[in-house]
Amino acid sequence: MKKRSMMFLGIVLMLMVILSACGSSEETSGDTATNKEEEEKKTLRVVTDAAYAPMEYQDKGNVVGFDIDFVKAVAEEAGYELEIEHVGWDPIFVEIESKRADLAVSSITINDDRKQTYDFSVPYFQSTNKILVPDGSDIKSAEDLKGKKVAVQNGTTGQAAMDALLGKNHEDIKKFDDNNLAIMEMESGGAAAVVADNVVVEEYAKNNADKNLTVIEDETFDSEFYGLLFPKGSELVEEFNTALNAVIDNGKYEEIYQEWFGSEPNIDILKE
Ligand code: ARG
Repeated sequence: MKKRSMMFLGIVLMLMVILSACGSSEETSGDTATNKEEEEKKTLRVVTDAAYAPMEYQDKGNVVGFDIDFVKAVAEEAGYELEIEHVGWDPIFVEIESKRADLAVSSITINDDRKQTYDFSVPYFQSTNKILVPDGSDIKSAEDLKGKKVAVQNGTTGQAAMDALLGKNHEDIKKFDDNNLAIMEMESGGAAAVVADNVVVEEYAKNNADKNLTVIEDETFDSEFYGLLFPKGSELVEEFNTALNAVIDNGKYEEIYQEWFGSEPNIDILKE
């Protein structure tokens, strides 16, 4: 008798569980589409080389910088959450080519060579290589770099510029995994100059006034544009381009630019 009533209770309980499960699933599917989208915003994996202040760098364990604020604004506009990870420069290209990451932001110059393997967004930032030297150096132009040791970050357009000037694999070109190591090499006397993106060397010279550094511009260095990097054929490119243009047009880009550089961006040049 006791056994039977226990079994009955068991069946009733099971039925209750099944019914309540049905009920709740009906409830969620009855939710408005917008609520659902908000709850299920897709998270994208973003990779970067956070050793390129003020564009991307680490501050108390966080990845911060102009690029980071910018990509977050674009993702928000496009309706995505981001998980941003510092992986280093060379690994960026491995992660994107293998599609383990959805996109990369890292002051990456758009060029034909990279376009063969990757897709880029539309341009979002203008840049050029410049030369960082100690004050009083006899280097006054790119031409003066001949016969000197020059430190660059491996696989960057700075390296490509030195390959073009001094010859590919020339022993005077010292290549480093990250740009901070290239700067350290010059500071310890192992190189006479560093060649890297203008905002980065300018910011470094300004923030390290005690180190007495000078930045040299040379018009033989190309004008470059940064883009977001995607795996070839990624469906995100179009969505991100639309969002990127919206962020430029709605003033958000200018706001972020002002915050990091204290001046107005030249937006027209991005649209040419
Ligand atoms: N703009 C240069 C290039 O694309 C250098 C970028 C380096 N970026 C970095 N986060 N270290 O080659």
